Amino acid sequence: MSTQAIKKVGFVGLGIMGSRMARNLARKGFEVTVWNRTRSRAEPLRAEGIKLAGTPAVLASEVDAFCSCLSDPPAIREVVFAKDGLLTGSKAGQLFIDFSTVSPEFSRELEAGATRQGLDFVEAPVTGSKTGAEKGTLLMMVGAKAQALERAQPVLQAVGEKVIHCGPVGAGSQVKLAGNALISMMRQVKKAAAERGRDPDQLISVMRCLVNRTDERLDDATRAVTHGTWDQIADDARKMADAGVDEIFFDVAFQKDAQSRDGLLRYMERFREMVGAGAAV
Ligand SMILES: NC(=O)c1ccc[n+]([C@@H]2O[C@H](COP(=O)([O-])OP(=O)(O)OC[C@H]3O[C@@H](n4cnc5c(N)ncnc54)[C@H](OP(=O)(O)O)[C@@H]3O)[C@@H](O)[C@H]2O)c1
Repeated sequence: MSTQAIKKVGFVGLGIMGSRMARNLARKGFEVTVWNRTRSRAEPLRAEGIKLAGTPAVLASEVDAFCSCLSDPPAIREVVFAKDGLLTGSKAGQLFIDFSTVSPEFSRELEAGATRQGLDFVEAPVTGSKTGAEKGTLLMMVGAKAQALERAQPVLQAVGEKVIHCGPVGAGSQVKLAGNALISMMRQVKKAAAERGRDPDQLISVMRCLVNRTDERLDDATRAVTHGTWDQIADDARKMADAGVDEIFFDVAFQKDAQSRDGLLRYMERFREMVGAGAAV
Protein backbone atom coordinates (compact mmCIF):
# COMPACT_ATOMS: atom_id res chain seq x y z
CA MET A 1 0.00 0.00 0.00
CA SER A 2 1.08 3.57 -0.64
CA THR A 3 2.70 5.53 2.15
CA GLN A 4 2.40 8.78 0.19
CA ALA A 5 1.24 11.77 2.26
CA ILE A 6 -2.43 12.52 1.92
CA LYS A 7 -3.20 15.94 0.44
CA LYS A 8 -6.42 15.50 -1.50
CA VAL A 9 -9.37 14.18 0.48
CA GLY A 10 -12.85 13.29 -0.78
CA PHE A 11 -15.92 13.34 1.47
CA VAL A 12 -19.31 11.81 0.68
CA GLY A 13 -22.37 12.41 2.85
CA LEU A 14 -22.84 16.05 3.80
CA GLY A 15 -25.45 15.63 6.51
CA ILE A 16 -25.33 17.05 10.02
CA MET A 17 -21.96 15.42 10.71
CA GLY A 18 -20.34 15.12 7.30
CA SER A 19 -20.81 18.74 6.20
CA ARG A 20 -19.01 19.94 9.32
CA MET A 21 -16.25 17.31 9.10
CA ALA A 22 -15.59 18.17 5.43
CA ARG A 23 -15.32 21.87 6.32
CA ASN A 24 -12.80 21.09 9.06
CA LEU A 25 -10.68 19.07 6.61
CA ALA A 26 -10.59 22.11 4.30
CA ARG A 27 -9.78 24.42 7.22
CA LYS A 28 -6.88 22.18 8.21
CA GLY A 29 -5.36 22.56 4.73
CA PHE A 30 -6.50 19.45 2.84
CA GLU A 31 -7.68 19.90 -0.76
CA VAL A 32 -11.27 18.71 -0.29
CA THR A 33 -13.71 17.40 -2.89
CA VAL A 34 -17.25 16.53 -1.79
CA TRP A 35 -20.29 14.70 -3.11
CA ASN A 36 -23.80 14.51 -1.70
CA ARG A 37 -26.92 12.78 -3.07
CA THR A 38 -28.93 15.98 -2.61
CA ARG A 39 -26.80 18.46 -4.44
CA SER A 40 -28.35 21.53 -2.82
CA ARG A 41 -26.80 20.46 0.52
CA ALA A 42 -23.35 20.59 -1.08
CA GLU A 43 -23.75 24.04 -2.64
CA PRO A 44 -22.89 26.04 0.53
CA LEU A 45 -19.54 24.19 0.68
CA ARG A 46 -18.86 25.05 -2.96
CA ALA A 47 -19.48 28.70 -2.10
CA GLU A 48 -16.67 28.32 0.47
CA GLY A 49 -14.24 27.12 -2.20
CA ILE A 50 -14.64 23.34 -1.73
CA LYS A 51 -14.78 21.32 -4.96
CA LEU A 52 -17.92 19.32 -5.88
CA ALA A 53 -17.70 16.02 -7.80
CA GLY A 54 -20.47 14.80 -10.15
CA THR A 55 -20.50 11.23 -8.79
CA PRO A 56 -18.81 9.27 -5.99
CA ALA A 57 -16.72 7.46 -8.66
CA VAL A 58 -15.41 10.76 -10.04
CA LEU A 59 -14.66 11.94 -6.51
CA ALA A 60 -12.66 8.76 -5.76
CA SER A 61 -10.68 9.10 -9.00
CA GLU A 62 -9.43 12.57 -8.00
CA VAL A 63 -8.20 12.13 -4.42
CA ASP A 64 -5.57 10.37 -2.26
CA ALA A 65 -8.11 9.36 0.39
CA PHE A 66 -11.89 9.37 0.59
CA CYS A 67 -14.26 9.40 3.56
CA SER A 68 -17.94 8.65 4.05
CA CYS A 69 -20.41 9.65 6.74
CA LEU A 70 -23.79 8.29 5.65
CA SER A 71 -27.05 7.32 7.36
CA ASP A 72 -26.96 3.53 7.26
CA PRO A 73 -25.81 0.43 5.33
CA PRO A 74 -28.30 0.80 2.41
CA ALA A 75 -27.04 4.37 1.83
CA ILE A 76 -23.40 3.24 2.09
CA ARG A 77 -23.99 0.30 -0.29
CA GLU A 78 -25.38 2.69 -2.89
CA VAL A 79 -22.55 5.16 -2.57
CA VAL A 80 -19.72 2.62 -2.29
CA PHE A 81 -20.66 -0.39 -4.41
CA ALA A 82 -22.89 1.11 -7.16
CA LYS A 83 -21.76 1.42 -10.78
CA ASP A 84 -20.80 5.06 -10.26
CA GLY A 85 -19.82 4.41 -6.63
CA LEU A 86 -16.59 5.09 -4.77
CA LEU A 87 -14.98 1.71 -5.47
CA THR A 88 -15.53 2.05 -9.23
CA GLY A 89 -13.44 5.22 -9.32
CA SER A 90 -10.87 4.12 -6.74
CA LYS A 91 -7.24 3.20 -7.40
CA ALA A 92 -5.03 0.73 -5.52
CA GLY A 93 -3.09 2.43 -2.73
CA GLN A 94 -5.81 4.88 -1.73
CA LEU A 95 -7.24 5.12 1.77
CA PHE A 96 -10.96 4.77 2.58
CA ILE A 97 -12.29 5.95 5.97
CA ASP A 98 -15.91 5.31 6.94
CA PHE A 99 -17.20 7.48 9.80
CA SER A 100 -20.78 6.12 9.73
CA THR A 101 -22.31 4.17 12.63
CA VAL A 102 -22.83 0.61 11.36
CA SER A 103 -22.62 -2.97 12.59
CA PRO A 104 -19.24 -4.72 12.87
CA GLU A 105 -20.34 -7.17 10.14
CA PHE A 106 -21.13 -4.38 7.74
CA SER A 107 -17.80 -2.69 8.44
CA ARG A 108 -16.02 -5.94 7.60
CA GLU A 109 -18.00 -6.12 4.35
CA LEU A 110 -16.73 -2.63 3.49
CA GLU A 111 -13.19 -3.66 4.36
CA ALA A 112 -13.46 -6.71 2.08
CA GLY A 113 -14.68 -4.51 -0.82
CA ALA A 114 -11.89 -2.00 -0.20
CA THR A 115 -9.23 -4.72 0.05
CA ARG A 116 -10.34 -6.21 -3.32
CA GLN A 117 -9.53 -2.82 -4.85
CA GLY A 118 -6.15 -2.65 -3.08
CA LEU A 119 -7.23 0.11 -0.68
CA ASP A 120 -6.44 0.63 3.00
CA PHE A 121 -9.66 0.72 5.04
CA VAL A 122 -10.37 2.36 8.40
CA GLU A 123 -13.68 2.27 10.26
CA ALA A 124 -13.98 5.31 12.51
CA PRO A 125 -17.46 5.77 13.98
CA VAL A 126 -17.63 8.99 15.94
CA THR A 127 -19.26 10.44 18.99
CA GLY A 128 -19.65 14.08 19.91
CA SER A 129 -22.67 14.99 17.81
CA LYS A 130 -23.19 18.20 15.82
CA THR A 131 -21.14 20.39 18.17
CA GLY A 132 -18.21 17.98 18.17
CA ALA A 133 -18.31 17.79 14.37
CA GLU A 134 -18.45 21.58 14.16
CA LYS A 135 -15.59 22.19 16.60
CA GLY A 136 -13.46 19.26 15.45
CA THR A 137 -13.60 17.64 18.89
CA LEU A 138 -15.08 14.26 17.92
CA LEU A 139 -14.04 11.04 19.65
CA MET A 140 -13.31 8.28 17.13
CA MET A 141 -13.51 4.57 17.86
CA VAL A 142 -11.28 3.06 15.23
CA GLY A 143 -11.11 -0.43 13.83
CA ALA A 144 -8.16 -0.83 11.45
CA LYS A 145 -4.81 -2.43 10.79
CA ALA A 146 -2.09 -0.40 12.56
CA GLN A 147 -0.51 0.71 9.28
CA ALA A 148 -3.85 1.91 7.83
CA LEU A 149 -4.56 3.86 11.02
CA GLU A 150 -1.13 5.48 10.89
CA ARG A 151 -1.87 6.72 7.36
CA ALA A 152 -5.31 7.95 8.41
CA GLN A 153 -4.12 9.88 11.48
CA PRO A 154 -3.74 13.32 9.79
CA VAL A 155 -7.30 13.06 8.44
CA LEU A 156 -8.69 11.83 11.77
CA GLN A 157 -6.89 14.55 13.71
CA ALA A 158 -8.41 17.17 11.40
CA VAL A 159 -11.97 16.16 12.28
CA GLY A 160 -11.62 15.07 15.90
CA GLU A 161 -9.45 15.28 18.97
CA LYS A 162 -9.26 11.74 20.31
CA VAL A 163 -8.71 8.44 18.53
CA ILE A 164 -9.13 5.14 20.34
CA HIS A 165 -7.73 2.18 18.39
CA CYS A 166 -10.11 -0.60 19.41
CA GLY A 167 -8.60 -3.39 17.27
CA PRO A 168 -9.13 -4.70 13.74
CA VAL A 169 -12.03 -3.54 11.53
CA GLY A 170 -15.27 -4.41 13.37
CA ALA A 171 -13.85 -3.60 16.81
CA GLY A 172 -14.50 0.13 16.38
CA SER A 173 -18.18 -0.49 15.66
CA GLN A 174 -18.44 -2.86 18.61
CA VAL A 175 -17.11 -0.23 20.97
CA LYS A 176 -19.22 2.55 19.40
CA LEU A 177 -22.43 0.51 19.74
CA ALA A 178 -21.48 -0.59 23.25
CA GLY A 179 -20.98 3.07 24.17
CA ASN A 180 -24.40 3.93 22.67
CA ALA A 181 -25.97 1.20 24.78
CA LEU A 182 -24.39 2.53 27.98
CA ILE A 183 -25.35 6.13 27.21
CA SER A 184 -28.88 5.05 26.42
CA MET A 185 -29.19 3.12 29.67
CA MET A 186 -27.84 6.02 31.69
CA ARG A 187 -30.33 8.38 30.03
CA GLN A 188 -33.24 6.11 30.77
CA VAL A 189 -32.15 5.44 34.34
CA LYS A 190 -31.94 9.21 34.84
CA LYS A 191 -35.45 9.57 33.44
CA ALA A 192 -36.75 6.80 35.70
CA ALA A 193 -35.15 8.48 38.75
CA ALA A 194 -36.73 11.84 37.82
CA GLU A 195 -40.13 10.15 37.49
CA ARG A 196 -39.73 8.99 41.10
CA GLY A 197 -39.02 12.53 42.26
CA ARG A 198 -35.26 12.26 42.42
CA ASP A 199 -32.96 15.02 41.23
CA PRO A 200 -31.39 13.85 37.93
CA ASP A 201 -28.28 15.93 38.62
CA GLN A 202 -27.59 13.91 41.75
CA LEU A 203 -27.61 10.75 39.68
CA ILE A 204 -25.18 12.31 37.23
CA SER A 205 -22.87 13.20 40.14
CA VAL A 206 -23.07 9.60 41.35
CA MET A 207 -22.31 8.26 37.86
CA ARG A 208 -19.28 10.56 37.58
CA CYS A 209 -17.93 9.29 40.90
CA LEU A 210 -18.55 5.65 39.95
CA VAL A 211 -16.83 5.89 36.60
CA ASN A 212 -13.88 7.84 38.00
CA ARG A 213 -13.26 5.66 41.04
CA THR A 214 -10.00 3.82 40.79
CA ASP A 215 -9.55 2.47 44.30
CA GLU A 216 -9.46 -1.22 45.11
CA ARG A 217 -12.76 -1.24 46.98
CA LEU A 218 -14.99 -1.01 43.96
CA ASP A 219 -18.57 -1.62 44.93
CA ASP A 220 -20.96 -3.68 42.84
CA ALA A 221 -22.39 -0.73 41.00
CA THR A 222 -18.96 0.51 39.99
CA ARG A 223 -18.00 -2.96 38.88
CA ALA A 224 -21.10 -3.14 36.69
CA VAL A 225 -20.13 0.07 34.96
CA THR A 226 -16.42 -0.50 34.61
CA HIS A 227 -16.03 -4.26 34.46
CA GLY A 228 -19.49 -5.48 33.48
CA THR A 229 -19.95 -8.19 30.92
CA TRP A 230 -22.66 -8.17 28.30
CA ASP A 231 -24.36 -10.97 30.23
CA GLN A 232 -24.61 -8.70 33.26
CA ILE A 233 -25.78 -5.74 31.22
CA ALA A 234 -28.41 -7.82 29.43
CA ASP A 235 -29.53 -9.14 32.83
CA ASP A 236 -29.80 -5.60 34.18
CA ALA A 237 -31.79 -4.55 31.11
CA ARG A 238 -34.18 -7.45 31.65
CA LYS A 239 -34.58 -6.71 35.36
CA MET A 240 -35.36 -3.08 34.64
CA ALA A 241 -37.83 -3.95 31.90
CA ASP A 242 -39.43 -6.56 34.18
CA ALA A 243 -39.64 -3.95 36.96
CA GLY A 244 -42.08 -2.14 34.72
CA VAL A 245 -40.13 0.99 33.90
CA ASP A 246 -42.21 1.88 30.87
CA GLU A 247 -40.58 2.38 27.52
CA ILE A 248 -37.34 1.94 29.30
CA PHE A 249 -35.12 1.74 26.31
CA PHE A 250 -37.05 3.73 23.74
CA ASP A 251 -34.24 6.05 23.04
CA VAL A 252 -32.77 7.86 20.12
CA ALA A 253 -29.53 5.91 20.46
CA PHE A 254 -31.43 2.69 19.87
CA GLN A 255 -33.74 3.81 17.09
CA LYS A 256 -31.80 2.02 14.40
CA ASP A 257 -31.47 -1.18 16.34
CA ALA A 258 -34.26 -1.72 18.83
CA GLN A 259 -37.70 -0.20 18.59
CA SER A 260 -39.24 -1.96 21.56
CA ARG A 261 -38.46 -3.82 24.74
CA ASP A 262 -38.22 -7.08 22.79
CA GLY A 263 -36.06 -5.34 20.26
CA LEU A 264 -33.81 -4.16 23.06
CA LEU A 265 -33.40 -7.64 24.46
CA ARG A 266 -32.56 -8.96 20.99
CA TYR A 267 -30.13 -6.07 20.63
CA MET A 268 -28.39 -6.93 23.89
CA GLU A 269 -28.18 -10.57 22.84
CA ARG A 270 -26.57 -9.52 19.58
CA PHE A 271 -24.03 -7.44 21.50
CA ARG A 272 -23.21 -10.39 23.68
CA GLU A 273 -22.61 -12.55 20.60
CA MET A 274 -20.58 -9.85 18.88
CA VAL A 275 -18.40 -9.03 21.83
CA GLY A 276 -17.99 -12.67 22.74
CA ALA A 277 -19.52 -14.59 25.62
CA GLY A 278 -18.07 -13.46 28.91
CA ALA A 279 -15.88 -10.76 27.38
CA ALA A 280 -15.57 -7.58 29.36
CA VAL A 281 -17.22 -4.50 27.84
N1 LIG B 1 -25.95 13.35 14.17
C1 LIG B 1 -25.24 12.91 15.21
O1 LIG B 1 -25.26 13.50 16.29
C2 LIG B 1 -24.36 11.68 15.06
C3 LIG B 1 -23.46 11.40 16.10
C4 LIG B 1 -22.61 10.28 15.98
C5 LIG B 1 -22.70 9.47 14.86
N2 LIG B 1 -23.61 9.76 13.87
C6 LIG B 1 -23.65 8.85 12.70
O2 LIG B 1 -23.08 9.55 11.56
C7 LIG B 1 -23.74 9.14 10.37
C8 LIG B 1 -24.33 10.38 9.69
O3 LIG B 1 -25.23 11.01 10.58
P1 LIG B 1 -25.84 12.46 10.30
O4 LIG B 1 -26.47 12.88 11.56
O5 LIG B 1 -24.84 13.34 9.63
O6 LIG B 1 -27.01 12.07 9.27
P2 LIG B 1 -27.87 13.00 8.31
O7 LIG B 1 -27.76 14.45 8.67
O8 LIG B 1 -29.22 12.40 8.23
O9 LIG B 1 -27.13 12.79 6.90
C9 LIG B 1 -27.16 11.55 6.27
C10 LIG B 1 -26.34 11.59 5.00
O10 LIG B 1 -26.51 10.33 4.32
C11 LIG B 1 -26.95 10.60 2.98
N3 LIG B 1 -27.78 9.51 2.46
C12 LIG B 1 -28.83 8.92 3.07
N4 LIG B 1 -29.35 7.96 2.28
C13 LIG B 1 -28.61 7.96 1.14
C14 LIG B 1 -28.64 7.18 -0.05
N5 LIG B 1 -29.54 6.20 -0.23
N6 LIG B 1 -27.74 7.46 -1.01
C15 LIG B 1 -26.82 8.44 -0.84
N7 LIG B 1 -26.73 9.21 0.27
C16 LIG B 1 -27.61 8.96 1.25
C17 LIG B 1 -27.71 11.90 3.09
O11 LIG B 1 -27.83 12.48 1.80
P3 LIG B 1 -29.01 13.53 1.48
O12 LIG B 1 -28.52 14.87 1.93
O13 LIG B 1 -29.20 13.40 0.02
O14 LIG B 1 -30.23 13.06 2.26
C18 LIG B 1 -26.78 12.69 4.03
O15 LIG B 1 -25.66 13.18 3.35
C19 LIG B 1 -24.81 8.12 10.79
O16 LIG B 1 -24.31 6.83 10.63
C20 LIG B 1 -25.04 8.44 12.27
O17 LIG B 1 -25.51 7.31 12.99
C21 LIG B 1 -24.43 10.85 13.95
